[in-house]
Amino acid sequence: MVTVPHLLLNNGVSIPQLGFGVFQVPQDQTQRVVEAALEAGYRHIDTAAAYGNEAGVGAAIEASGIPREEIFITTKLRNGEHGTAVEAFETNRRSLGVDTIDLYLIHWPVPSQGLFVDAWQAMEKIHADGRARTIGVSNFLADHLESLLAVATVVPAVNQIEVHPTFQQTALSTMTRAHGIAVEAYSPLGQGSDLKATTLTSLAQKHGSTPAQIVLAWHLGMGNVVIPKSTHPDRMRENLGAAAVSLDSDELDAVTALDRGSRLGADPATAAFSQM
Ligand code: A2P
Repeated sequence: MVTVPHLLLNNGVSIPQLGFGVFQVPQDQTQRVVEAALEAGYRHIDTAAAYGNEAGVGAAIEASGIPREEIFITTKLRNGEHGTAVEAFETNRRSLGVDTIDLYLIHWPVPSQGLFVDAWQAMEKIHADGRARTIGVSNFLADHLESLLAVATVVPAVNQIEVHPTFQQTALSTMTRAHGIAVEAYSPLGQGSDLKATTLTSLAQKHGSTPAQIVLAWHLGMGNVVIPKSTHPDRMRENLGAAAVSLDSDELDAVTALDRGSRLGADPATAAFSQM
């Protein structure tokens, strides 16, 4: 089985750098999909209250028989619950059926709502009580991070943002890391759309790997935590196999040159999904 590298977060907690994301996996398929991911060797699962599939993640972990402490679980606070984060966290825990969350994130800053600092202060308490081993943010742009850091007593461990070859957010990643915050890439394969570039197919040929493995090896080489998703066990194994692919600095640069500034998801400056 492939050995997945770990990163040390700013509070000393170790996170498997290559995890498995369940965004858009329907609740009725989630247990099966996460059981397959655990079987393939993933030990880091990323979900969110807003995905509506935490119960399936929890059921898969329970059914796997793998000791709880061997699996790193991330979940996220809904946009509509910034003002009631303590209660929301209890719902997250109940849905997952676990005592402790390894990483709890503010899902979106929703600047129009003006409550992410309140949410963070509640999360600092949850962290101090030991119920969340690590706390962090997601979709935070530089100005959101600056506002948070101005009042935070705990520096977020992670900023989970959209990063893939055609949308790299280099300035935001650099600024995030400069504060000791790890960059976690969501939609790391560009939701499957970033895999056709000639650069990737030729690097894949050279390494005897696949374009998806090259993209994920690029993320790992850049220092990103990465959470690809697939509902297919063969692709789950393929993606995990990226941990065995090492790109040199010229190869990393060749993938970096694919940046087009093409965002796939919502812009955090304006996103305010109430349903999240
Ligand atoms: P599927 O679930 O049918 O395997 P991202 O993680 O960037 O959001 O990308 C996920 C998308 O990419 C899904 O549509 C998934 O489809 C597809 N995908 C995941 N792994 C691979 C792979 N190794 N090769 C091609 N497509 C993949």
